[in-house]
Amino acid sequence: MIQVLDKTFEVFIGREEIQKRVDSLAEQINADFNGEEVIFIAVLNGSFMFASDIMKCISLESEISFIKMSSYQGTESSGRVDELIGLNNNLKGKTVVILEDIIDTGITIDKIISLMDDQHPKMVKICSLLYKPDAFKGQHKPDYIGFSIPNAFVVGYGLDYNEKGRNLDAIYQIKI
Ligand code: IMP
Ligand code: MG
Repeated sequence: MIQVLDKTFEVFIGREEIQKRVDSLAEQINADFNGEEVIFIAVLNGSFMFASDIMKCISLESEISFIKMSSYQGTESSGRVDELIGLNNNLKGKTVVILEDIIDTGITIDKIISLMDDQHPKMVKICSLLYKPDAFKGQHKPDYIGFSIPNAFVVGYGLDYNEKGRNLDAIYQIKI
């Protein structure tokens, strides 16, 4: 049992179980894209640990870069405008695999994909360590899923609770 800020969490997925699953996700991706060049795009901040671990097992000719979703007050009356920060690679005609920490409602990944599509990549696949199917209401389901989990809040292994807990080496679930 651990405390992060005002909440109590308990171990949900241990370090070794995560590592095993991450290794097998990498093997699956290596097999599916055998002979192809892949650009991995990791979504900060949450995916930094997952991205680092999975990339060590990727044997494809590949690149990795990091993006962040942000939204700013647009000039139009429509209000907030989403943008992708850090997307410097030219994705035209490229095979892209997005690395995410978690897909919850799916709103974030839908925005990322629609902004990425402006660059006309050949293919975009989504690899998410965690997926909450009961919360999902988006357009793009992950193609590669580490663990499908119930609709309860988790921290650790990159995921935060108010920016705290990202450093934990296992995934912890909120205790109610
Ligand atoms: P979305 O609902 O799929 O758009 O997810 C939005 C973001 O919420 C994710 O990228 C995470 O940063 C965060 N998030 C969703 N569920 C959790 C959770 O259980 N723990 C920590 N962060 C979460
Ligand atoms: Mg995230």
